[in-house]
Amino acid sequence: MFQDKIAFITGGSRGIGKACACVFSEAGAKVIITGRDLTTLNKVASEIESQGGQVLPVKMDVTNPDEIKMAFAKVMESFGRIDILVNNAGVTKDNLLLRMKEEDWLTVIETNLTATFLVTRMAIKIMLKQRYGRIINISSVVGVTGNSGQANYAASKAGILGFTKTIAQEVASRNITVNAVAPGFVDTVMTQKLTEATTSKLLDQIPMGRIGVDREIAYGVKFLASKEASYITGEVLNINGGLYM
Ligand SMILES: NC(=O)c1ccc[n+]([C@@H]2O[C@H](COP(=O)([O-])OP(=O)(O)OC[C@H]3O[C@@H](n4cnc5c(N)ncnc54)[C@H](OP(=O)(O)O)[C@@H]3O)[C@@H](O)[C@H]2O)c1
Repeated sequence: MFQDKIAFITGGSRGIGKACACVFSEAGAKVIITGRDLTTLNKVASEIESQGGQVLPVKMDVTNPDEIKMAFAKVMESFGRIDILVNNAGVTKDNLLLRMKEEDWLTVIETNLTATFLVTRMAIKIMLKQRYGRIINISSVVGVTGNSGQANYAASKAGILGFTKTIAQEVASRNITVNAVAPGFVDTVMTQKLTEATTSKLLDQIPMGRIGVDREIAYGVKFLASKEASYITGEVLNINGGLYM
């Protein structure tokens, strides 16, 4: 399905990003996984390679513009093109507004939103020349609904939706689609930090009565990158077990 396609995934070392890397690789794509810890990325790459995939692990802190430039140079040297970009790297630093430190606001905005801008700008230059590209930005249900205690995170994820729709309009005529996936509550390191009480309260609000798994998000990302989704752009795919509809 994705033979000859090059997929670049930020935050590919675990969780939803790793699931995306596995799903694209299983579908025949060559995959670039990035993150801050090269040792972990190398382990993930070995896992995928043992299943017959081709992976390039690259250290790239999405808050570091120099590392982003170096990563893109390395990818272009290795593959010469980028067909699919998944802006997935993300963090939370939760607190109620009055207790939220400015540095926690900035870390979340820079990692989740500014990085999406910086990485997309690099990728778009390449995709415009190719006259082909598929960009999928990972937002969150919280970016649509808001969530008490997550002002920084919700603002970053809502920002991603505005960014997605804007860039979709800017590049639509060049055969580049830009879409967002807004996951609900997914079982990853990010949500394992939540207290049991918060988890059980959240579960009560999910019509399907269970938390999602990383691959359930990755399959939506894969669909938006597929040729079946060629006429979909500026869209937000909610994958949340009915939590928001
Ligand atoms: N889990 C959920 O319920 C849920 C719901 C909605 C949306 N999301 C979104 O889905 C995405 C993936 O989340 P997840 O649940 O899979 O979280 P996760 O397990 O914590 O994984 C986060 C990934 O982002 C990378 N990352 C974090 N900061 C980075 C930085 N500065 N530079 C480069 N990479 C960085 C991490 O790698 P390193 O730490 O090794 O750098 C890791 O690979 C995030 O954007 C998150 O907001 C998750």
